[in-house]
Amino acid sequence: MPDLHTDVAIVGAGPAGLMLAHLLHVAGIDSVVVDNRSHDDIATTHRAGILEAASVRMLETPGIDSRVHTAGHRHDGIDIRVDGVSHPLDFPDLVGESVWLYPQNEIYVDLAAARARTGRPTFHAVTDTRLDAVESQSPQVRAVTDDGEPLTVTARYVVGADGSRGPSRASIPETTRKRFFHEYPFAWFGILCEAPPSHEVLIYSRSARGFALISQRSDTVQRMYFQAPPDTEVADWSDDRIWTELQARVEGPDGFALRTGPIIDKTVLPFRSAVTEPMQHGSLFLAGDSAHTVPPTGAKGLNLAFADVAVLAPALVRALQDSDAEALARYSATATKRVWKAQNFSYQMTRMLHTDPTADPFEARRSLGELDSILTSDHGRRYLAECYTGWPHTTTIP
Ligand code: DHB
Repeated sequence: MPDLHTDVAIVGAGPAGLMLAHLLHVAGIDSVVVDNRSHDDIATTHRAGILEAASVRMLETPGIDSRVHTAGHRHDGIDIRVDGVSHPLDFPDLVGESVWLYPQNEIYVDLAAARARTGRPTFHAVTDTRLDAVESQSPQVRAVTDDGEPLTVTARYVVGADGSRGPSRASIPETTRKRFFHEYPFAWFGILCEAPPSHEVLIYSRSARGFALISQRSDTVQRMYFQAPPDTEVADWSDDRIWTELQARVEGPDGFALRTGPIIDKTVLPFRSAVTEPMQHGSLFLAGDSAHTVPPTGAKGLNLAFADVAVLAPALVRALQDSDAEALARYSATATKRVWKAQNFSYQMTRMLHTDPTADPFEARRSLGELDSILTSDHGRRYLAECYTGWPHTTTIP
């Protein structure tokens, strides 16, 4: 394999890496993308499914030809159930925005097809990925290709979009990066099932038995989650046991009943909040989960990754085309502003809606008071709707 030279080497071919690659391509900037996973691995990994309007607009970029408007569904609100009582939030009414239900793996399929049409290179299933000389002006990404050949990509910039366990973050010396971390005493048990939707919008339910989220995928497949201890074994949960638990968590005086069906996928998802700052070191820039992880409540993960890319792409273009690296120098400060807003919202949604087995009785009552303050106030419901539908993208610090 010959050594490759490019403008931007991108580690990670997930939605963040491929969206960045596409925005750079549209501006005439070259990139090489590497990922340690195969195309099929990424395409079949189930993640969240809610897109902010600003994320949808990014998918409308010419050349992506996303199916978000044909296969996705606009959602004009959510329902927050508290002990079986429904509190519908109408997003257009509250904040003039909507969100879209369009699963992350479908976004990946769209972006991978767009990348393939550009003819620019993507290397899948590479091993031994390593970043070198990130403090220099010609940083390198080295890896071994899936047919065992050494690969060296020399670039002007490297972007680490390789998720929470990729090698990029560790290429920033520990002495210059700070990691903020919060762990939660629970996880989510996630299922995919063959059933019709149970309700027209997603239901976030707080109950004495714990949290449940009734999400959707299509007319015939649904996605649902329920709070469970982190050491939960999938094998201990039969379909019947899952349906009984989910139904118990949404039960209420309105007689709401879940539409059930065969469960086709069961997974336990870990829960944590983490941020690495700064999101830059020399010629290396972090984007998405490599720099920050949010708990899934509120579906901010992918939206936050896209928001990073919305800041990073134009800054890279300016640096490479106009030799003006000023916006790039401000990338980390600009991006982390939104990261902490999303961290706060994800934490708040998590804390307000879950039962914490380790919390004292005061905290359990207090969090119910917090939820009540928000749901019974026009200002509170607007605040929640604004956070959920997402803040406007920024490309510079105000
Ligand atoms: C989904 C996941 C979430 O964490 C969320 O808040 C909403 C939807 C989903 O997978 O559909």
